[in-house]
Amino acid sequence: MQETIDKYIAEHEERFIEELLDLLRIPSISADPAYAEDVQRTAQAVMQSLRAAGATSAALHETPGHPIVTATFPEVPGAPTVLVYGHYDVQPPDPLDLWESPPFEPIIKKTDAHPQGAIFARGSCDDKGQLYMHVKALEAMVNNGGVPCNVKVIVEGEEEVGSSNLEAFLQMHQEELACDVVLVSDSAMIANDVPSISYGLRGLSYVEVEVTGPNRDLHSGVYGGAVANPINVLANMIASLQDQEGRITIPGFYDKVVDLEEKERKALNSIPFDLEEYQKDLGIASVQGEKGYSTIERASTRPTLDVNGIWGGYIGEGAKTVLPSKAYAKISMRLVPNQDPDEITALFAAHFKKIAPPSVQVVVSPHHGGRPAVTPIDSVEYAAAERAMEATFGKTPLPVRGGGSIPIVSLFEQVLDASTVLMGFGLDSDDIHSPNEHFGLFNFIQGIRTIPLFYHFYSSMK
Ligand code: BES
Ligand code: MN
Ligand code: MN
Repeated sequence: MQETIDKYIAEHEERFIEELLDLLRIPSISADPAYAEDVQRTAQAVMQSLRAAGATSAALHETPGHPIVTATFPEVPGAPTVLVYGHYDVQPPDPLDLWESPPFEPIIKKTDAHPQGAIFARGSCDDKGQLYMHVKALEAMVNNGGVPCNVKVIVEGEEEVGSSNLEAFLQMHQEELACDVVLVSDSAMIANDVPSISYGLRGLSYVEVEVTGPNRDLHSGVYGGAVANPINVLANMIASLQDQEGRITIPGFYDKVVDLEEKERKALNSIPFDLEEYQKDLGIASVQGEKGYSTIERASTRPTLDVNGIWGGYIGEGAKTVLPSKAYAKISMRLVPNQDPDEITALFAAHFKKIAPPSVQVVVSPHHGGRPAVTPIDSVEYAAAERAMEATFGKTPLPVRGGGSIPIVSLFEQVLDASTVLMGFGLDSDDIHSPNEHFGLFNFIQGIRTIPLFYHFYSSMK
């Protein structure tokens, strides 16, 4: 079976890449309303691609936000049902001047991690490229004897802005979406010669804070020293959220955190990781984080608090002496089992208001959040993914926990009662969400080769 599939892929590889480049040319930036039409066009393109791949039905569902695309493939009575999930929206490309080539004009370049070339474009890895592996894998199977499972596909356009309309959609279409397992490629592997499968994701609580001092901007000479400067105050408040040991000081923040068993900790800490290399790649002289935990743990199994943006006062050319009226910050907290995003947001808000001095007023506004997820590795679906990657990489993939968030994964569990396999083919160094995002051609093709094997093993083991 693999030979026929591989032959098909080799014959059509160039077209697969060209089609992906076309998809990457549409700026489907979900966060910016100015791109709503492009987002819509991308949804249409995804739907067409699923039809062309052999879907028996494909539809575009409007939502209060961006559309959701669904499709089904030919029924296989008695076989298990796999729901493929992906997202066609992308992060804003800013800061634009740091891109070496325009974010929506994909080009192929070689890199150290990708000697066979990588596609540079916003969304190449997260997640259009990884989504498109599935479309092309399905096409390859349909044209070579069919898919041995029932396949349903759901692709959303709001993952990067919190998937707020997907939950209602899942609830409304529970029956149509019923499945035995969800298959997602929206995460990373350790390296092209060190395959891995993520079995966990962190959750997210995201808040915006506004600190107000005086009722208007003031002359910093006339009033400075006597009136609270909200930027100074905000900086102090933020600094106090972490102690000397890198622990978050919000009361109750760690109450529900489940500590890892020694066995799992050991396994995670034994995955290949070169601290020197890591530091060199990031241009840092040293890592920093919660005392008592390794870098791997800090970046995947431990909760965090990070300021994502901070602003206020005068940031134009030259110097303006001003004591500003307001200061703002956007703060994210990555969560681990069993932290609850709403609870953490409430704990944050209460604490942040409590530590504010009487000289300022504080408003905390919650943004989107998401639950953490951990998926079993002693399951048939994990074994199928493991065997599929073993076959194409020649090595058993290592189980790892990812530090990013895909909020919908825990909802698949809750609403559809289905667990998820996170078979991602990106690399952490692919610069997702950053300038010069890229996706290796090797990874793209390897994904298309591996996915059919997942169906093969899953249908034969289930
Ligand atoms: N694909 C990522 C999540 C991811 C990245 C998982 C790397 C595992 C490894 C996803 O598109 C993403 O960026 N999610 C957001 C959360 C969302 C609510 C904005 C994130 O993690 O910041
Ligand atoms: Mn993604
Ligand atoms: Mn993303």
